[in-house]
Amino acid sequence: MRTVDELIGLDRRHVVHPHLPLTTTNRTIFTRGKGCKLWDAEGRQYLDATGGLWLAQIGHGREEIAEVAARQMKQLEYFTCFWDFTNDKAIELVERLAQMAPGDLEMSFFTSGGSEGDDAAIKTARYYHYMRGERRRTWILSRKNAYHGLAYGGGTATGFAEMNEGTGYWYFDGQNITEFCVAELESTITQIGPENIAAMIAEPIMGVGGMIIPPDDYWPRMAEVLRKHGILLIFDEVVTAFGRAGRWFATERFGVSPDILVTAKGISSGYIPLGAVLMTRDVADTVRQGHGYPVGYTYSGHPVACAIALENLRILNDEGLVDRANDTGRYIAEQLATLLKHPNIGEIRQMGLGIALELVVDKETRRPLPDAASRIPDIIRDETGVIVRISSAQNLVLSPPLTFSRDEANQAVEAVSRVLMRLKPDGTV
Ligand SMILES: Cc1ncc(COP(=O)(O)O)c(C=O)c1O
Repeated sequence: MRTVDELIGLDRRHVVHPHLPLTTTNRTIFTRGKGCKLWDAEGRQYLDATGGLWLAQIGHGREEIAEVAARQMKQLEYFTCFWDFTNDKAIELVERLAQMAPGDLEMSFFTSGGSEGDDAAIKTARYYHYMRGERRRTWILSRKNAYHGLAYGGGTATGFAEMNEGTGYWYFDGQNITEFCVAELESTITQIGPENIAAMIAEPIMGVGGMIIPPDDYWPRMAEVLRKHGILLIFDEVVTAFGRAGRWFATERFGVSPDILVTAKGISSGYIPLGAVLMTRDVADTVRQGHGYPVGYTYSGHPVACAIALENLRILNDEGLVDRANDTGRYIAEQLATLLKHPNIGEIRQMGLGIALELVVDKETRRPLPDAASRIPDIIRDETGVIVRISSAQNLVLSPPLTFSRDEANQAVEAVSRVLMRLKPDGTV
């Protein structure tokens, strides 16, 4: 067995981590997870208040999932879903998704995750117009502070300039508009010309942007403008679908039905990489004309991934975890509300089990705290063993498994409060 130091040395020598500067020497090596708890290679216990990256809906280390995966691997581990090939688990999962999906999103295409899903959705929207003879409709609109993964399609639509610096901004014609400004959508459409625009991609609730929840009338008004101009609406629900936002799909909250809806993360609670792009029959039939849908991945419809997703959805349903996300999320937000007295905590936003505390220089301008605040999750983790995250613009985010208990909620609240009470305007604690 390797020592912890040997493992860290190997990691530093060979592993390229997303968003980790070369000079950072620290590593936290997890070796075990159960429920909402994790253990590192030295045996230290942590409380997972992030669900990894907004997922782990059903908690870590579930025997039921391991059994389903083992059974499926013995039965059929893999065969392609290209052409006319398919498998029973992929078919059962599309049926389940069609039953539960909002609006008339009755068709699905499988991916291995969110970035692939956003790429597929963008290609699908452009190809839809192409097949209908509207071949100038190539532009994609998205929003500032949006996150659509870091592959080249969704990645260029991602509205954080720093994430595209040096790698290229738009790889096709596109534009980021200001969030929550319907007038800017209208003026942008007029400026580009509706006949040139294929789709708008957006998160109904912005996750990475810091749990940004729009006013109730925002999406109905946006959808109406897009529909009037024949522009497709792609909802990116990679974070919000499957209970995270306190409903099966965040879309349900706004009474708007997109043409395409991208999911990943919670569909398998992270037990295996999987995503699904849901679309209307009109979209699916249009893009399957001619030589067929021009998007496909080796692992689309992977039988083990689909079997795990079916079991994950069963657990979410049978254990009432979507309702529980609402109760626990509200409870955490209420408990954290005492922190609003602090001059550097601007707002607490919560929907389901997504909670963001906005860390600001002052409450009037609501300017984000300086970079030093990015270290706060490390300090909370070192002092208390509770794992939280800083999302963009210094939003401290909690997105625990939906199985989070009252005791675990109290532990997370105490940990966050203990450190944030010492918060200073320069971002240090
Ligand atoms: C809204 C949204 N879309 C897409 C992605 C990318 O998903 P993945 O990392 O699985 O490629 C993420 C990841 O956090 C996300 O939050």
